[in-house]
Amino acid sequence: MTPNIRRIAINTGGGDAPGLNAVIRAVVRSSEQRGWEVFGIKDGYDGLFEENGIMRLDRSAVRGITHLGGTIIGTTNRGDPLNWRALDEQGSTILIDRSQEVIDALAAHEIDALIAVGGDGSLSIAQALFEKGLNVIGVPKTIDNDLAATNLTFGFLTAVETATDAIDKLHSTAEAHERVMVVELMGRNAGWIALSAGVAATADVILIPEIPYEMERVCDKIQERYAEGRNFAIVVVAEGAFPVRGEPLFQRQGGGKQHLGGIGALIAEGIAEHTGQETRHLVLGHLQRGGGPNAQDRLLALRFGAAAVDLVATGRFGCMVALDPPDVLAVPLAEAIAETKNVPLNSDILKTARALGTCMGD
Ligand code: F6P
Repeated sequence: MTPNIRRIAINTGGGDAPGLNAVIRAVVRSSEQRGWEVFGIKDGYDGLFEENGIMRLDRSAVRGITHLGGTIIGTTNRGDPLNWRALDEQGSTILIDRSQEVIDALAAHEIDALIAVGGDGSLSIAQALFEKGLNVIGVPKTIDNDLAATNLTFGFLTAVETATDAIDKLHSTAEAHERVMVVELMGRNAGWIALSAGVAATADVILIPEIPYEMERVCDKIQERYAEGRNFAIVVVAEGAFPVRGEPLFQRQGGGKQHLGGIGALIAEGIAEHTGQETRHLVLGHLQRGGGPNAQDRLLALRFGAAAVDLVATGRFGCMVALDPPDVLAVPLAEAIAETKNVPLNSDILKTARALGTCMGD
């Protein structure tokens, strides 16, 4: 049955990704064509617990934002309404379930459906809210490209472009100083960004979580290059990479939360120690999430936004939009959050890396 929709809301949750504003614009413009009103919830679900935390998004609010990075409605990767951090009477942190408050607040604002834009964490929250009766449609986003249900997430290609540019720049300084440069890239437990940018920027060594590495293999490759008279080398390492018989490394950052990180420094230390070559490392970090989306990510984000509005109009709640080239389809949210996507060991891009003589650490 076609639902009777008058007002919808949109939120963006988890780490930002280039293309979020393009989704918001597509949702607003296609909703207005149907005569609906759109509201943006600030900072994930946080806005529903605050005064003035929900804003009207009309045509003028989304003018000129398609090419902008970030998100005009804000995001957070701390605000899970099902596991909300609060203090008990003794001042200890406890987790409380505020999902019913989310549903009540949306009802109070007379919102008929929610479009939740996020990665696996935010989409799991969306699924839980759907199971509690909320009309939800999911839109996948993450620079990591690690959601199995969609061929691609927007933000990924821009992140790969940023990383490729950075590695290109490292080449000249590495060559000038005859150094080994090690660059650590994002991607969580998937090697998509590191492998794609590493191959595109012709790195000599690429280490990804899908292939546990041996330090000896990495050092052999560096020494081989120097023996051939190529007196510099570029090593790309995914933040989730780890050695054979080892574990991924975590670091504590602001707010006490543990994050993957530190593997680049460790690899650089190992290379310097075992090869005697001067080695430097850097972490590209959040630059990979910053800036505006490239044309492909803009297009995908706009397609996802328009498709999400179609799903609301046809009442396909509990679904997520997904790219199945050349189409954008609907997949059940439950299916979408069930599986993450890693680089298959027989993937063409991995074969290409090996064909080009890149050391994958094995
Ligand atoms: O999931 C996107 C991502 O950028 C990962 O690649 C990275 O591990 C993580 O988010 C960093 O998160 P934060 O924004 O909390 O530093």
